[in-house]
Amino acid sequence: MKRCGIPTIFAIFGVTGDLAQNKIFPALIDLYEKDLLPEKFSIIGIARRDLSNKDFRDFVRKAVLKKKNYERSILDSFLDSLEYSQGEFNQKETYQKSRRIFENIDKKWGQCSNKLLYLSVPPSLYELILKQIAESGLSKSCDEEHGWTRILIEKPFGKDVHTAQKLDELLGILFKEEQIYRIDHYLAKQTLQNIMVFRFSNTIFEPLWNRKHIKSVDINLFENSTAEKRGAFYEENGALRDVGQNHILQMLALVAMEQPKSLHFSDVRAARENVFAKLAKSSKKEVLRAQYKGYLDTAGVAKNSKIETFFSLVSYINSKRWREVPFYLTSGKALKESKVEIIIHFKDETPGYSFLPEQHKEQERNKITISIQPQEKISILFWVKIPGFEDVVGQKELSFSYHDEQTENIDAYEKVLFDCVSGDQTSFVSTKEVLYTWEYIMGIKDVIKKTPLHTYETGSETEDIKKLANKNRE
Ligand code: BG6
Repeated sequence: MKRCGIPTIFAIFGVTGDLAQNKIFPALIDLYEKDLLPEKFSIIGIARRDLSNKDFRDFVRKAVLKKKNYERSILDSFLDSLEYSQGEFNQKETYQKSRRIFENIDKKWGQCSNKLLYLSVPPSLYELILKQIAESGLSKSCDEEHGWTRILIEKPFGKDVHTAQKLDELLGILFKEEQIYRIDHYLAKQTLQNIMVFRFSNTIFEPLWNRKHIKSVDINLFENSTAEKRGAFYEENGALRDVGQNHILQMLALVAMEQPKSLHFSDVRAARENVFAKLAKSSKKEVLRAQYKGYLDTAGVAKNSKIETFFSLVSYINSKRWREVPFYLTSGKALKESKVEIIIHFKDETPGYSFLPEQHKEQERNKITISIQPQEKISILFWVKIPGFEDVVGQKELSFSYHDEQTENIDAYEKVLFDCVSGDQTSFVSTKEVLYTWEYIMGIKDVIKKTPLHTYETGSETEDIKKLANKNRE
């Protein structure tokens, strides 16, 4: 794999937050360990807290060692690349200071470096920081020929179509589209990136991947964690905005998209956009929402909050390939187990003419499960005759697990950072994707207003929540 040859400055706004500690720094040091960061790089942390450079390096040392142990020399030289810049986000001086740091580093390196600006701050600060970045000139490359400036921006990208459009307009004034990297880290997960290859490179699957053979598709993102540490954020968003508008719909796009014209990022994004453009409006009976008991006691949550921590939707895609095939999209917090998976259920092609004895007739024919978490695995369920004198049939599984391979373990955030430096926007979200997905989710939110909010016990099974909710509906 080729690393970028141009010296690069990573400027992280909100560097003392959870995301930087848990995801960004572990990803950066892993890339460094694999020799995948540019040979010359510098990381500037920008935040409000009063820290010296030494404090900042200690803070990062602690954060990365929580994840794994690094060789002393790797850790020390990585930490040497860090510099802290304290400042309030609403003050000009914060940005001017960063600019001076950039200029000094460029002078030291004797060339105009690449600048990657990472907004790792709450979305409510995006507008303020973006405007200040523009005014201070931080968004301009120092030299048109060499050294780009790119911006990495976290989800949620807006709160609905209108706010997303507003944010996009602002970004559009400051940056060209090729400089903007809107993150959905699910697109950077290895098992999800494999879906296109699995579908389009295997002649045994692609001909079956349509309404003629597929009965239904489940997309599940289950979490056993609660909203405990992020009450205020969750209260603003709820499950539909937090993971529905992005991670769940992106998984759906990968399963449902047509083959892109090429692997160029614009063609891949266009194929995903086409799925979102064809999502049918859902009706009341196709949506279900619930809240776990105890959510209302979370700090930052209103005592009478109607925010959903669980949803289950039936979505349809108005396309030749998928018409009338239900996609069951389910997600929730405080569930019994954490699991992310996509299950493709196949139809019974030979009703009344299979070798299955009566007791198995109602059972599933074939299914393909793409497990994303906790395992990274693909398995295919099929029927066989169990060896023996009698005619006994049973279900068996053919499977492939990423963990059995001697492959590198790549975290989604490593891929996000690597792709941004390499200039590959395939795993980043386009403006059209953002707008279509908000349009769909806001349609669901309208419908949801007219449906009851059910409650469930912490640690529930999803099927129990659905059953309970359906019973309450009757
Ligand atoms: C984030 C959501 O985008 O994704 C979180 O804000 C959620 O609420 C998380 O827990 C899930 O990501 P992962 O990679 O841990 O499955």
